Amino acid sequence: MRGIKRWSDIPSSEITSEDIFWSRRKFVQAAGIVSATSLVPPVIGDETNEILRYQGEVSFSQVPPLWLTQKIGVARPSEFSTKEAVTPYNHITQHNNFYEFGSDKDDPAEKAVNFNSDPWSVEVSGEAEVRGRIALEDILKNHDLEERIYRLRCVEAWSMVVPWIGFPLADLVKRLKPTSNARYVRFETLYDPKQMPGQRSMFTSIDYPYVEGLRIDEAVNELAFVAVGVYGRSLPPQNGGPLRLVVPWKYGFKSIKSIARISFTSKRPKTTWEKANSREYGFYANVNPLVDHPRWSQATERRLPGSLFAPKRTETIAFNGYGPQVAHLYADMDLKRYY
Ligand code: MTE
Repeated sequence: MRGIKRWSDIPSSEITSEDIFWSRRKFVQAAGIVSATSLVPPVIGDETNEILRYQGEVSFSQVPPLWLTQKIGVARPSEFSTKEAVTPYNHITQHNNFYEFGSDKDDPAEKAVNFNSDPWSVEVSGEAEVRGRIALEDILKNHDLEERIYRLRCVEAWSMVVPWIGFPLADLVKRLKPTSNARYVRFETLYDPKQMPGQRSMFTSIDYPYVEGLRIDEAVNELAFVAVGVYGRSLPPQNGGPLRLVVPWKYGFKSIKSIARISFTSKRPKTTWEKANSREYGFYANVNPLVDHPRWSQATERRLPGSLFAPKRTETIAFNGYGPQVAHLYADMDLKRYY
């Protein structure tokens, strides 16, 4: 196993500033391409197809390693992207659920500003042939990145459309070579109370570290995604940088952020929200307009951004609209019971 490469280990001669990198890239791309700042979603097969880029100020202090910026810079569009209007960058990065940084929607953006995620590594354990601590760079080096524009539906009945950059979880699972005993994948967020004020709060009802899990067949479904970027840039800490899960057919709480551990298990892992309140939050958490949350309806959702006076209410679709790709996974299950 290679050691973990630090940002400071890269000779300064190899470092290009992010601005220079982007301007070079823009130069290399011929004129006529959709403006980098316009929020027009790419159209599949269109010659002008362009990864969505945000070029304003970044709201966090961590400088992403150059290798990551470069990898993100050559991501390609994906056939799985929705053509719906994409949520603006400032909403995606300032309206967050990340309880490790507080429970208000603006807490993560404010309190994760100095979150240090470089170097980053993931500890792999359990029923797999490949185990041990793997540096982020080594995790990513075998994967070409792509942009997937997915709907995100939170269990709280709001939704967004997010242009993630990442790679299929299936590719990572295959590389880690689960044994025949592996039936589930368990994910764990970093536990670091010094950096994450929510983890040292005396008033939290959450048992940290945050844990999520998927059945193996869910994990290798073509839609399950590992994100390392958004809007053509590295993932800000409030969105779960440097590495998070995106499971677009399930409520947002399954999409665990800042993953530090992955393990393969024969038994179903107990997840954070199940532990906190199993009557309200189940293991499966498939988006389902027919199964209400005990305290509110799941039939509709509020698409962000919207104003108090003009909320954009839309009907919620089963599996968040991804039924054609995933409904077969639950063909024999009573989804009212396995919520
Ligand atoms: N992951 C961790 N570690 N901690 C959290 O509090 N919140 C979840 C999920 N992943 C959460 C998490 C919830 S409830 C949602 S809706 C999504 O992250 C929100 O992702 P976003 O803030 O990037 O929109």
